[in-house]
Amino acid sequence: MGSKGITYDYSNALASMIGEEHGITEKEIKGLDAKAQAVHKDLQRMRTQKEVGFFDLPYDTNLVKAINAIASDIHRNFENFVVVGIGGSSLGALCLLNALSHNYHNFLDPAGRHNHPRIFFMDNPDPDAVRELLDILDLRTTAFNIISKSGNTSETMAIFMHLYNVVQRRFSKAALSKHFIITTDADRGSLREVAVADKMKTMPIPKNVGGRFSVFSAVGLLPAAVAGINIQELLSGAAVMDERCSKPSLNTNPAYLNAVIHFLAHTKKGKNISVMMPYATALRTVADWYAQSWAESLGKKFDADGNVINTGQTPIKALGAIDQHSQIQLYVEGPNDKIITFIGLGKFSKECRAPKVFHSVPALNYLAENDLEELLSNELHATEFSLFKAQRPSVKFTLDELNARNMGGLLYLFEVQTVFAAGLYNINAFDQPGVQAGKKTTHALMGGELKEDKEELKLFKAYQKEKKSHKCL
Ligand code: PA5
Repeated sequence: MGSKGITYDYSNALASMIGEEHGITEKEIKGLDAKAQAVHKDLQRMRTQKEVGFFDLPYDTNLVKAINAIASDIHRNFENFVVVGIGGSSLGALCLLNALSHNYHNFLDPAGRHNHPRIFFMDNPDPDAVRELLDILDLRTTAFNIISKSGNTSETMAIFMHLYNVVQRRFSKAALSKHFIITTDADRGSLREVAVADKMKTMPIPKNVGGRFSVFSAVGLLPAAVAGINIQELLSGAAVMDERCSKPSLNTNPAYLNAVIHFLAHTKKGKNISVMMPYATALRTVADWYAQSWAESLGKKFDADGNVINTGQTPIKALGAIDQHSQIQLYVEGPNDKIITFIGLGKFSKECRAPKVFHSVPALNYLAENDLEELLSNELHATEFSLFKAQRPSVKFTLDELNARNMGGLLYLFEVQTVFAAGLYNINAFDQPGVQAGKKTTHALMGGELKEDKEELKLFKAYQKEKKSHKCL
């Protein structure tokens, strides 16, 4: 199945290739047809009623103009751009930047970077990591993009409070509006309150766009544009994929089909694990982005009717060829409980040949005069083949090359795949009560003053008392 630069091959997930015990039969796919049509209708309804906003992000041309204008301003005034956010408020940008910028963007001299700033991420509230990044930045030429949909996330807000103080003390209160750009909910949250009070530039996140579905909003687009990525191309790729992924028929819709394959692999063939394994260093964080989306959207206790189902496939991140020398042993010979998604590139942008230099070592002749691209792509073929021989299901996306258009298409496809899978499981893809539970306890432990903080703290103290300490070291 092809779609302008991206192909999707699912043959190795089928029973006709790996047998009925582990592979999906055509009958099983057909058996889901009625359910799939109902899920399709429901997604279309959510889209037209604007309950879910990510579907329409690829068409927001005004946003592209606004972001490109801010990015040009940053290009003129700053050498460093720090993205401060966590989860869905950082992984999309990280994934785009790794995929579409030079692998060593920050180490290039300004001309090599076309005068685009160096880009850094402050995602973890790790004091050493935050302070050590500040050690290497010249604050005079550093802009911070604080990103939080809720505007209340403790990790992001605590880092922001630290940075706010550093910038204010180093310069002045007036300088805050120069150094901070805020991306947050259009009209709610503590972050917005601060931004308005200090007259900081703000970019809105639409109400109906949740964190892990926000890569095509200002959350992902502003850092991408600052890094010099063509965001119009990115959105055009997503829009082209939208044409394919809004079709009702499983046979022509790669997002629906891949969701069905994963759903059946999980529920009928015991594949409790979904491995994402790109074969390109630049695509390594696609696996992180996918893992968050798959885990947080589909790992749920309740279905939509309130039944306890404790469902979800555990996502695992891997990278070819590196993990051929680590995890693949387990995938090929360990429990047959995984479905693997490969992402390959038809063509890398640079050549890197292994010339025949060791004339007296014939054992290395097989590598000589080949390009590393040839080696990496044959390693992908070899891994697929080993898994096939061991009757382990896999699917493969191939991007004809790594460009903004293809990345837009690929990420959009995975977004639709995720919400469609949620429909098949009959669960809500857009909530995350398990994440909220941790946020709630942290709030209480950090001295929160809400009524529920007191109750949570009481429960926590009782739990600590109850906890028997078994320590060995
Ligand atoms: O996908 C999600 O909703 C989460 O991963 C959030 O993005 C994450 O918790 C950060 O939330 P916020 O953007 O509100 O700071």
